[in-house]
Amino acid sequence: ADPDPLQDLCVADLGATSVVVNGFPCKPASNVTSDDFFFAGLSREGNTSNIFASNVTSANVLSFPGLNTLGVSMNRVDVAPGGLNPPHSHPRATELIILLEGRLLVGFISTSNQFFSKVLNPGEVFVVPKGLIHFQYNVGDKKALAITTFDSQLPGVVIASTTLFGSTPAIPDDVLAKAFQVDQKVVTAIKSKFGN
Ligand code: GLV
Ligand code: MN
Repeated sequence: ADPDPLQDLCVADLGATSVVVNGFPCKPASNVTSDDFFFAGLSREGNTSNIFASNVTSANVLSFPGLNTLGVSMNRVDVAPGGLNPPHSHPRATELIILLEGRLLVGFISTSNQFFSKVLNPGEVFVVPKGLIHFQYNVGDKKALAITTFDSQLPGVVIASTTLFGSTPAIPDDVLAKAFQVDQKVVTAIKSKFGN
């Protein structure tokens, strides 16, 4: 879904400060090497010792500058037993997910609030349409490992819980209390889990 490239390659110069473009400027072609098109960061298991018991490792243009202008990216998703990659959306990409290990409940919710989901076994694939809220939940008794792919070099991620309850500055309590139809005490309690 990203714009098409206008040249073979445009390895991102992430440090360039003098030009502002949609994406990143290209590093000089004479400095480009094979290493620019290689990324080993998905070979390592992510650390799932966190409140969600899950971890997403991204191979996007920021971690893998060779993706600049190419319109694709990939994540490694590790989920411990009982762990959750919490509800989130990607404003700029459709997501394909393939499960490599374990058993994973994957699902998304449409704009008409219909919930679509499947339990994936290894080798099975699910697709999340662009921009819709989705999650992955480990319903197996072993760790789950999935690879997600995107039609954007930088899909962006909006995590529902941290966006609403962990923003800087914080959203007023009465807005969230009204939105979720709960007492402000509940809002305060949830905010405290997300640093607010
Ligand atoms: C999973 O939903 C991911 O965004 O990698
Ligand atoms: Mn996702």
